[in-house]
Amino acid sequence: MVRPADSPPAVDRALRTAAGIGLRSPHIRKVRAERPSIRWLEVHSENYFADGGPALAALDDLRTDYPLSLHGVGMSLGSADPLDRTHLAKLKRLADRVQPVLVSEHLCWSGVGGRHFNDLLPLPYTEEALAHVTARVGEVQDALGREILVENVSSYLGFAEATIPEWEFVAELARRSGCRLLLDVNNIYVNSVNHGFDADRYLAAIPGDRVAEIHLAGFEASGQYLIDTHGAPVAPDVWALFTRAIARFGPRPTLIEWDLDIPTLEALEREAATAQAILDESHVVAR
Ligand SMILES: [Fe+2]
Repeated sequence: MVRPADSPPAVDRALRTAAGIGLRSPHIRKVRAERPSIRWLEVHSENYFADGGPALAALDDLRTDYPLSLHGVGMSLGSADPLDRTHLAKLKRLADRVQPVLVSEHLCWSGVGGRHFNDLLPLPYTEEALAHVTARVGEVQDALGREILVENVSSYLGFAEATIPEWEFVAELARRSGCRLLLDVNNIYVNSVNHGFDADRYLAAIPGDRVAEIHLAGFEASGQYLIDTHGAPVAPDVWALFTRAIARFGPRPTLIEWDLDIPTLEALEREAATAQAILDESHVVAR
């Protein structure tokens, strides 16, 4: 079984104090041409599963100047269906090719009974689901021959069967499976409002040595709910929660995600610069 190293890999340490951006198709041409000083890039793995073609060529080119992270949205890690071995094989082939610094997936399910949905759906937080997804993370790590990070998702409902608070489920998954966590601070904030819990209590439950990456994104309010649209700037309350997360965990590779109404590259770089300033400040304090 793949187990994380006792200390983070060197490449991890280089990114530890770095804010990057999620690279989406509208900006690929500009980044390739101008090579802006972005510290690292994250892409959606499935967009590069083809056997060749321009998308993969762009990634081959960008990896010469930027550390890359592969972020999956389609593995359906928590589903009761068997793992999709074709999907896993494509991800392994891509990871072997571009040598990403991090590979991540979501703590969710996206289909069952062979039917697929275009959503990252939450799991019922039960002992049965925890045992199931722990085993699945082990299967994925073994198939890839490397560690994966697992990301907490946003949600708008809970299951009546749930017996474990989300933060304990996430922490326990990391402890049991040997994976580390991609902690999405915006998702914690969104869920704290949608489900009425204390976001700082969530942070307090997460073992800091298991946190390998942080995501930041924007939400939109809809009635009494916050919707995780990835279509707005990071909200002030989320910047504040991120600052407290970094104070607790220390600096971590941090990524700005923006997937809807994608702004200019410069706007994304400004969001990353705000994250970078918070990481730098924490770094100074830590020394
Ligand atoms: Fe995220």
